[in-house]
Amino acid sequence: MVIAIDGPAGAGKSTIAQIIADKLDLLYINTGAMYRAVTWQAIQEKIDLKDQGALAELTRRCNIIFRDNGKKIILNGVDVSREIRYPEVDKHISDIVKLPKVREIMVERQKQLGRIGNVITEGRDVTTIVFPDADVKIYLDASLEERAKRRYLQFESKGHPLNQDQVKRETARRDKADSSREHGPLRVAPDAITIDTTDKDIQQVVDEIIAIIKREVNAC
Ligand code: DC
Repeated sequence: MVIAIDGPAGAGKSTIAQIIADKLDLLYINTGAMYRAVTWQAIQEKIDLKDQGALAELTRRCNIIFRDNGKKIILNGVDVSREIRYPEVDKHISDIVKLPKVREIMVERQKQLGRIGNVITEGRDVTTIVFPDADVKIYLDASLEERAKRRYLQFESKGHPLNQDQVKRETARRDKADSSREHGPLRVAPDAITIDTTDKDIQQVVDEIIAIIKREVNAC
């Protein structure tokens, strides 16, 4: 069984996917974390972010493993769970995720992970490109204001106090980059169920998705 969730930054995808993964004993594949790990490594190696060949080569060299069911990201043997959330990764990631050669390698790896068993995965193209035949497809959304507020609080709790307006501008910039790129853009799959999380708490959304999963499983 594959449960796929797409949506913009700050819609609550990782928090919700993580909880559902634990509850239903599913393998959690956080595709954003995989792109973040490559971006972090590119920054460390000071690779020219316009050099697609070098970035594709770097992507091939990046061995990314999820531990504790997605709670920890291990890159080439090093735990980078904290580093991949640094603001500098957010700043540069759009340059990397738009590159078709990088996406091709990542999509193939994500598909391979999906063959392991029952999975829940989230990102921007998991309902459309990575798992177009997923059993359940969800598009998780929320207003820009709410998503920017959540990200601001997230950064603050991790010791990166940023300006609220700056976070809102940055979120809007990433929305535009995510939905306008040529390769793997953020789209609502025609058969996805959209859930707006703006005025909902985490538990409500988790319950809603679990009800959808149960309905789909019973229908099979
Ligand atoms: O979900 P996130 O914020 O951790 O994702 C980080 C970035 O990676 C974001 O700018 C969108 C991009 N991304 C992508 O292009 N494709 C995916 N499947 C997942 C994330």
